[in-house]
Amino acid sequence: MNKTPWYKNAIFYELYVRAFRDSNADGHGDLRGVIEKLDYLQFLGVDCLWLLPIYPSPLKDDGYDIADYYDIHPDYGILADFEALIRAAHARGLRVITDLVLNHTSDQHPWFQAACADRNSPYRDYYVWSDSDQKYKEARIIFLDTETSNWTWDEQAGQYYWHRFYSSQPDLNFDNPAVQEEMLNVARFWLELGIDGFRVDAPPYLFEREGTNCENLPETHAYLKRFRAFVAQINPQAVLLSEANQWPEDVRPYFGEGDEMHMNFHFPLMPRLYQALAQADRTPIVEVMRRTPPLPANCQWATFLRCHDELTLEMVSPEVRQFLWETYAPEPRMRLNLGIRRRLAPLMNNDHRKIELLYSLLFSLPGAPTLYYGDEIGMGDNIWLPDREGVRTPMQWVAEPPHGGFAPPEAQPYAPVINDPVSGYAQVNVASQMDDPNSLLHTVRRMIVLRKAHPTFGEADLTWLETPKAVAAFLRPGPEETLLAVHNLSAHPQTIPLPTGRFTGLLDERIVQGHLTLPPYGYWWGRISTT
Ligand code: NOJ
Repeated sequence: MNKTPWYKNAIFYELYVRAFRDSNADGHGDLRGVIEKLDYLQFLGVDCLWLLPIYPSPLKDDGYDIADYYDIHPDYGILADFEALIRAAHARGLRVITDLVLNHTSDQHPWFQAACADRNSPYRDYYVWSDSDQKYKEARIIFLDTETSNWTWDEQAGQYYWHRFYSSQPDLNFDNPAVQEEMLNVARFWLELGIDGFRVDAPPYLFEREGTNCENLPETHAYLKRFRAFVAQINPQAVLLSEANQWPEDVRPYFGEGDEMHMNFHFPLMPRLYQALAQADRTPIVEVMRRTPPLPANCQWATFLRCHDELTLEMVSPEVRQFLWETYAPEPRMRLNLGIRRRLAPLMNNDHRKIELLYSLLFSLPGAPTLYYGDEIGMGDNIWLPDREGVRTPMQWVAEPPHGGFAPPEAQPYAPVINDPVSGYAQVNVASQMDDPNSLLHTVRRMIVLRKAHPTFGEADLTWLETPKAVAAFLRPGPEETLLAVHNLSAHPQTIPLPTGRFTGLLDERIVQGHLTLPPYGYWWGRISTT
């Protein structure tokens, strides 16, 4: 019997429901729209959909500001639609996880409204209050471009409340046992509807303690372990995919002894992939992988190139951050907080060699790859939209105006569909790439098929080959086969010596031994059978 947990080799697909497909012409993507597109997702070959928050919300932070944990945002549908989506996805062998925001609610949540209205309300203690804004001074501000403090004065409440993100997102008080219980109830509700787990938003910040930076506290880990045990009781297969944006050694405790989060995004790896490519030097990747601690057997890294947020540069030095900003975000509009608000294809100047190269690294390095909707076709972005909205524009399905298949013609989309001469829906869309076997979509799909056919990619160790620094070449030695992945990070052809043996190409049919020559930004995958 295969005991490997499903998520260790899964391909995740991050999907913003509002942006995917509008089935009822109201201009907003919806759950029925996602159901319409399940055939496409099945064709692409992904295993698990990760839905951005779908709860009722004033959408000041695109749903990460939850006003009701037990319902669906009316723009997206109703609970019955959600259940229909789960059923339809499961019928196709696709799993579904949803975003769960533990740390904070919207200021529109009835708990917060009651807390502000009445000091004696049982909900007052659901949030973190103070008469001064001087507590917890060592906690950094995350949304640097908009927030000047983690405290905001509420006139009605007559006190300051604590928030790690927008001031419209008051932090919950996890020192209150009632809050801890509430979140278990929320988890139970969605698990009983049949979901396959949660993407756990912003877990490092649940507790506050004076004299600390209020991140990664022991109390936070203790609660997450309790949360995990609770989730496992309801659905032992459910995954918790955590978003602890921290250095590898600080992320490691989130896995516990295999009894806390099953997965965590590998935030430090992500910017180093871009750095290595820009500098034609594999060193940043090698170093961060060396610094990456081993995980308990039932745990896995989630790797990614882009997501719905800015390409965060929190996990690099100030010098490297400056370099990456200058390289990938030359215009001030392209920068946000400590990151870059651009999509994968424009970051690569639409150079498909480089886009494919990054995908090849993503699929061949350890971890479970996560794709961001639209990046599989090389969608563009719109830096003129506010905040991170420029990377959350409508999915481009077909070349037809007016909305590229995102919504029926009479709809007014929630955001303009990308329509520029390079990345607009007329040039970049699913339908035309489906018809073209050399398209990015087909290339990504081929990598997914291979990645799934060779679980060694998800599980084996990583051994670097001695090559010129412009080449990132590594072996993944598994019990049944040894895989080889070679990447030329430079604009010049590179020839490297290979380990002894005859390697059979996975992406092409070549048999290679002795040496391998790669064109500029070329990549190659091979295998040697060891059984
Ligand atoms: C992390 C999410 O990825 C981001 O989009 C959100 O703004 C913050 N958490 C706050 O919930």
